[in-house]
Amino acid sequence: MADVHLTLEQLVYSMDRTLLCTVKKCYNWAWWHIISAPRRLTTRKLRATCLPLSTLYLLFVIFVVSTVFHCHKRLALVPTPWASSPRVLLAPGQLPREGVFTVDAVGRLGNQMGQYATLYALAKANGRPAFIPEHMHSTLAPLFRISLPVLHSATAHSITWRNYHLDDWMQERYRHIQDRYVRLTGYPCSWTFYHHLRPEILREFSLHEHVRRQAQAFLGELRVQGSRPRTFVGVHVRRGDYVHVMPRVWKGVVADRGYLQQALDWFRARYPAPVFVVTSNGMAWCRENMDTSRGDVVFAGNGLEGSPGRDFALLTQCNHTVMTIGTFGIWAAYLAGGDTVYLANYTLPDSPYLEVFKPEAAFLPEWVGIAAKLGPGPEHPSSWSPKRRCIWAQLV
Ligand SMILES: *[C@@H]1O[C@H](CO)[C@@H](O)[C@H](O)[C@H]1NC(C)=O
Ligand SMILES: *[C@@H]1O[C@H](CO)[C@@H](O)[C@H](O)[C@H]1NC(C)=O
Repeated sequence: MADVHLTLEQLVYSMDRTLLCTVKKCYNWAWWHIISAPRRLTTRKLRATCLPLSTLYLLFVIFVVSTVFHCHKRLALVPTPWASSPRVLLAPGQLPREGVFTVDAVGRLGNQMGQYATLYALAKANGRPAFIPEHMHSTLAPLFRISLPVLHSATAHSITWRNYHLDDWMQERYRHIQDRYVRLTGYPCSWTFYHHLRPEILREFSLHEHVRRQAQAFLGELRVQGSRPRTFVGVHVRRGDYVHVMPRVWKGVVADRGYLQQALDWFRARYPAPVFVVTSNGMAWCRENMDTSRGDVVFAGNGLEGSPGRDFALLTQCNHTVMTIGTFGIWAAYLAGGDTVYLANYTLPDSPYLEVFKPEAAFLPEWVGIAAKLGPGPEHPSSWSPKRRCIWAQLV
């Protein structure tokens, strides 16, 4: 995100420069007037000194007006959230009597989007006001026009919360949470919580205009065989820590080159000359393993973990999505709203992952799953020793 935002320092710096400029201009102007003013002060001394005084007064007014004008113009350039500060709940005395719902903000962008949307939906279902923690605001607000008010951390600390753990799929009891000060915990990222509120969720996660424009500018430059593509397919290839975590912890795999080939071909068969915009936190692997011979694959972003905002914006501005695994891709697909191809059945049937993750609650029914190739095969899960799993991890 850093690249699309004026940082606070840049803002102060640019304001300083504006001020400096104005001061310099005023100084030059004043100097010119004093020099050219009647110099003979002998007889008409009083009248002569009156002129610079009124000039100075005028200068002062111009100075103030131009400063206000410049600051105003500068501030207008600063994207939200700075331009419009969020509603912050300060004193514990201001707490709503009926209680408050909040959520534990953990993980990165995709996780926190899931937590935000789930808080939004469950607070609504229970008729309670929802407040997000500061940490969540600082993760989501630079990208999205979220509207939930922020709980000041001092206030949050002064409340005795009831932690309420959520599984990653909606359950009837979540509609009847009785406690007053409730903090939802867990890693909820399931459409079963909030899909009935889809228009509201899409509005909450609508991009700031400057973010959207930057993504559109990138897409607008793309050409396939010299002409502007009409169909944009965002491809998110989740790698990073998952490359090791999936096989070692969850008895599973991440997407391999075969999956990506199949997924891209699925779109090539359905749309004339689509372009594939690839984002990944393992871009080097993508460049080596994705077939670019048709000239319809574009690698976007720098592939670094630290700046996911630009990648995410690009994916949501595409028409369709190829995702692999992870909440980042799930959210990109949900917001893009077109056809979605996802990696299915990427763990062994006895994986502990399936105790916390229900595929049918994670992927919308209309999304298209392509089954992962699980190495030695799901028919022989017991023969899949940890050592072979590690070898497999090297291969994917
Ligand atoms: C596909 O996405 C592009 C880029 O966001 C957009 O300009 C175009 O209108 C979209 N096409 C359709 C059919 O939605
Ligand atoms: C994944 O596995 C389930 C259960 O074996 C099966 O019903 C489903 O069709 C599989 N999905 C894909 C995309 O192969």
